[in-house]
Amino acid sequence: MKKTLIIGASGHIGKMTTKQLLADGKAVIALVRDKNKLADICSDKLQIVEGDLEKDFSQPFADCDQVIFSAGSGGKTGADKTMLIDLWAACKAVDYAKSANVSHFVMVSSIGADDPSQGTETMKPYMIAKHMADEHLIRSGLNYTIFRPGLLTDNNATGKMQTTRPGNNEDMTINREDVANTLTYAVGKSELGGKIFELFNGDKNLADILN
Ligand SMILES: NC(=O)c1ccc[n+]([C@@H]2O[C@H](COP(=O)([O-])OP(=O)(O)OC[C@H]3O[C@@H](n4cnc5c(N)ncnc54)[C@H](OP(=O)(O)O)[C@@H]3O)[C@@H](O)[C@H]2O)c1
Repeated sequence: MKKTLIIGASGHIGKMTTKQLLADGKAVIALVRDKNKLADICSDKLQIVEGDLEKDFSQPFADCDQVIFSAGSGGKTGADKTMLIDLWAACKAVDYAKSANVSHFVMVSSIGADDPSQGTETMKPYMIAKHMADEHLIRSGLNYTIFRPGLLTDNNATGKMQTTRPGNNEDMTINREDVANTLTYAVGKSELGGKIFELFNGDKNLADILN
């Protein structure tokens, strides 16, 4: 059976995506540091693998067909973790996926990863890490889709989005649940291969903007 490996499955977006895929009847391998964080999910289609992205986490790749990288060092850690997780772990995930002949790799990147020189001094290390990880994926030869969400919020999903960048900075936001819906939608869609999408709240359905 085809399985989707979710890296960062205990995170906000990763966990919502895990639940959505399971609800769709898809098999999921969840890579997490602490399996207790998924204790509320009960499904015989869920396989939990404990692993640390700062170490060797190659083991679950052999059993998966799709990969979603939704891990992140978060805003409370320093540039060291940005390098170790957002850059190095993302690059290692790409290499492991390549060795395992994964058919589709979906990366959660970030707005600003296209041109980190435009970022603020505070955000620049993060945006450079995201940029370099995206470039590594693009050059890997894997079938990839990269999503670059705007600022994440915890509002409920609206199901309405846009991929064109809004004119005002304040409008460059997206609900985490809508990002999770997007990842769930993208799984198994080889026609999204080789594409990069920015993601914002908007007024269009996913099927109309992802093509
Ligand atoms: N914040 C924003 O506005 C924004 C904007 C655009 C894109 N993004 C990107 O969106 C993605 C997901 O966001 P989110 O809100 O869902 O993030 P989140 O809730 O902070 O989740 C991050 C995930 O990464 C995991 N992780 C971190 N270090 C790890 C390690 N050493 N080993 C194993 N797992 C590790 C965390 O595991 P634990 O649960 O064990 O900590 C967690 O599952 C990230 O890639 C982020 O860069 C964020």
